[in-house]
Amino acid sequence: MNLKQTLDQKISLVLSDISGTSDCQALVNHSKSTQFGDYQANGVMALAKRLKQNPRELAEKVSAKLDLNEFAEKVEIAGPGFINIFISNEFISQQVNALDKTQLVVKTQNAQTIVIDYSSPNLAKEMHVGHLRGTIIGDAIARTFEWMGHKLIRQNHFGDWGTQFGMLITHMLEQDDATTELSNLEAFYRASKQRFDNDPDFATRARGNVVKLQSGDEQCLQLWKSFIDVSIQHCQEIYQKLNITLTETDVVPESFYNNKLAGILESLDKQGLLTQSDGARCVFLDAFKNKEGEPLPTIVQKSDGGYLYATTDLAGIEYRCQTLHANRVLYVVDARQGLHFQQVFTVAKLAGFADKECSLEHLSYGTMMGKDGKPFKTRSGDTIKLRDLLGEGIERAYSQVEEKNPDLSEKEKQKIANVVGISAIKYADLAKNRNSDYIFDWDSMLSFEGNTAPYMLYAYARIHSIFRRAELDIDADYRIIVESPEEKELALKLLQFTEVVDALLEECYPNQLCLYLYELAGIFMSFYEACPVLKSEGQVKQSRLGLCQLTALTLKQGLTLLGIETLKKM
Ligand code: ARG
Repeated sequence: MNLKQTLDQKISLVLSDISGTSDCQALVNHSKSTQFGDYQANGVMALAKRLKQNPRELAEKVSAKLDLNEFAEKVEIAGPGFINIFISNEFISQQVNALDKTQLVVKTQNAQTIVIDYSSPNLAKEMHVGHLRGTIIGDAIARTFEWMGHKLIRQNHFGDWGTQFGMLITHMLEQDDATTELSNLEAFYRASKQRFDNDPDFATRARGNVVKLQSGDEQCLQLWKSFIDVSIQHCQEIYQKLNITLTETDVVPESFYNNKLAGILESLDKQGLLTQSDGARCVFLDAFKNKEGEPLPTIVQKSDGGYLYATTDLAGIEYRCQTLHANRVLYVVDARQGLHFQQVFTVAKLAGFADKECSLEHLSYGTMMGKDGKPFKTRSGDTIKLRDLLGEGIERAYSQVEEKNPDLSEKEKQKIANVVGISAIKYADLAKNRNSDYIFDWDSMLSFEGNTAPYMLYAYARIHSIFRRAELDIDADYRIIVESPEEKELALKLLQFTEVVDALLEECYPNQLCLYLYELAGIFMSFYEACPVLKSEGQVKQSRLGLCQLTALTLKQGLTLLGIETLKKM
């Protein structure tokens, strides 16, 4: 348990003891300002109300019974019954010195199997900015679960099946040299789409080929397969550029479930969950109604026998729960698919594809907007290709480096531009609450001020430069003895890293980790101003170097969990 949880548990126990009820909550949180201590328990007021007692008197009783000597130098009661806890310097010193520098957080004691579905683009189109958020956010979440010792299984649920592939393979079939054509995927999509939209005969042939493909025609299947292979290569290239951990072994695409769909229908049918509606087969659930109050179906088979997106997702849930044995299945997908997931989750539970204990979670995210407040597009209104976007980020970072540090070698400039450009794009996204729409803006993401990648990377590099300048070893052992208020604030913040990581695993909001790192960097700056490091001596110097070291390690670990590379020199 982290410090916050420990305090919460201890105080909750005292509350239960006093009230004789078991479900008391201490509601421990960080204090808003140091005058109210470091942690504050807010749960006394609610309990007092329930017991019809005076909250302040109840707080006195709690405080009299509470033994926090191990952690706190004092416990105060404030206002109507807040309990303010002032953590002692001794406790903080002892805890920071005891940290395992290679891990910094306490690994989980009960590892779960977590399946995470993210990125999952549609292969019938080039990967575009719409897939950026899910890819970046999902990857940060995946990295964090893994780091904490959970069994983490990535699933890249590529859309590789469906009617659009008829169009693409027909175009392939009718080219003399389909391989060259495919080397420029984007041009290939455009040409196929153009023919599909403007040539009715082509469209008819394309529809015919969908039927052939789905009934297992060898030639169609082969063309389809070669198309998919090229597309996957294309995605992998982007993942690599973006420092995303997805590999080809994580690809479990829609087509993987083809031979499981009939079984899904059969199972729903046996359980009496299917209703015919206009020839289609649907599941109607009371919980889902449209605006007019009419029942909303989850359609699982079209009248022509074809299956749907929802059918594949039901098969996916069964596979993830029954074969992969997931405790939690996380879907990092666009908010617009919210209703879809609510429906399939409900059907999956009802039909027993997912066990009751298995937690199915849609981690949704908002739309990426341009500065004009409309979904992010190029000036001519086209969707922006990821490849171009990443290239532009690196270019912009390069001009910055050139301007700030013209004396660096070309190789160093390139390296820094690469890290800063990619990090800026990723961090800007991660630092926002994923539920909100987010405005893509080069200037703010590349700024050295505020909660940005350049600021964070600079803060990290700066600590390295302290050690470099003094020719000191940043990896040596330093003993921390916390004395001044600035030292205390920094050391306590470092201890709270584990609280933030624990919270990330529960709610899956990487922006909380970004905020923590940003605050940490700020607290470090105040510490560095108030407490001379290199000019101090003896134990004090050792201790302050230790705080610098631990800050660097924490920044690096936090950024690594977010998928952000760091630089020792900038
Ligand atoms: N391919 C879908 C899209 O591009 C996202 C898939 C998300 N995962 C899932 N299991 N439905 O919108």
